[in-house]
Amino acid sequence: MEKMVIEGGKPLYGEIPISGAKNAALPLIAATLLAPGKHILRNVPDLRDTRTILKLLGELGAVWERDGSTLTIDCTDIVYAEVSYDLVKTMRASVLVLGPLIARFGRAKVSLPGGCAIGERPINFHISGFERFGVECRLQQGYVEAVIDGRLRGSSVYFDIPSVTGTENILMAAVLAEGKTVIKNAAREPEVGNLIDMLVGMGAEIEGKGSDSLVVTGVSALKAAEIDIIPDRIETGTYLIAVGAAGGEVLVKNCNPLHLPALLEKLRAAGLEIKTFADSIQALAPVGKKDWLKSVDIKTMPYPGYPTDLQAQFMALMALGSSICVFNETIFENRFMHVAELRRMGAKIRTDGSSAVVTGTGDEGLCGARVMATDLRASSSLVVAGLAASGRTEISRIYHLERGYENLAEKLGRVGARIWKEDE
Ligand code: EPZ
Repeated sequence: MEKMVIEGGKPLYGEIPISGAKNAALPLIAATLLAPGKHILRNVPDLRDTRTILKLLGELGAVWERDGSTLTIDCTDIVYAEVSYDLVKTMRASVLVLGPLIARFGRAKVSLPGGCAIGERPINFHISGFERFGVECRLQQGYVEAVIDGRLRGSSVYFDIPSVTGTENILMAAVLAEGKTVIKNAAREPEVGNLIDMLVGMGAEIEGKGSDSLVVTGVSALKAAEIDIIPDRIETGTYLIAVGAAGGEVLVKNCNPLHLPALLEKLRAAGLEIKTFADSIQALAPVGKKDWLKSVDIKTMPYPGYPTDLQAQFMALMALGSSICVFNETIFENRFMHVAELRRMGAKIRTDGSSAVVTGTGDEGLCGARVMATDLRASSSLVVAGLAASGRTEISRIYHLERGYENLAEKLGRVGARIWKEDE
């Protein structure tokens, strides 16, 4: 067990390169199951979660090789196998193999994901979507057993809430179905767009990329893919918010400013100077006193609204302000786990259901403390707070952090942060 140690109060200067997006890499790696042959994926981050899904593919018979951030995955000899609870319980995104397995084999047996720290997170939309294709889904002993006789039949699928992995799973089933599928109220996240680009490159027919209505015309077979994973917009946002917390001037590189419309608006409204370029974003924030920092309200929404995966980090920033703001978390019902830990650092935050009221600490600021990570994004909010706090912060259970951030301590260390890992 390792912990992260931060000596706060150091401003950040320099450049931070962004890795490929975790939430694009996972569905794109799963999509390789759709076709035999050697697939080439570039800019794949080396994370706990990407290692988990590769392990899963290995258990299904895929052969893969990593060369730096390029992955070659051969899915010619995939054998039908069940995806175990032991794997799914470590990463709920493992359910993303359901669509490809059903499409390619006409059956799949995958463990249902259990509960999650941030919410109940059922997969009922995924299952009712598959049933629209004529797939029979049975829940047995904690597993989803899905089967269909013959090819999937194209249909219309409507999401009550634009589910990201739900849209991805249904897309991956629809591309090999017979006839047309229309997905309504689909998710519009850039990661879904990255998957669509990959599938179209494999020979799929999909219209409506970037909109909430996708039309898929099924084909009988697909070929191996060659695709670049998009930059991680959540990693990008985390570092931009960190500049606001610690002060300084940082160029965040290899990112896509167009993927962060809501965050860039909110950072400018909070008082940061933000300059965007084709594939980089420069952030400037005064060092020292935070009297320049304005409190800004946040309401999380599906893309292009403010991302729920950047709610906790922005709350840590707002705890440093000098007035009051309100957060509304509309996506997950239990995504304030970081609040109690931020309070241990002196933050003044009151929650009530899906709302939180943050009163800035002003001149008092935050002070270092021993805190605990509870989930991926909560842990990065504690890093943001630790960079701004006076004294030393120790964050335990950082395995949460390593699920979604590649070399975070190295990247922040290179721009002047005093941050390192230690054994617990
Ligand atoms: C994806 O999760 C991301 N994960 C999450 O990132 C992200 O927070 C989330 O989208 C929202 O942006 C990956 O892409 C691997 P949803 P997903 O289905 O697809 C409800 C991170 O930190 N719902 O869009 O699981 C659900 O409970 C992670 O990197 C159902 O009710 O999220 C939630 O309230 C955390 N039934 C809402 O919809 C379903 O069948 C949106 O969830 C599916 C979803």
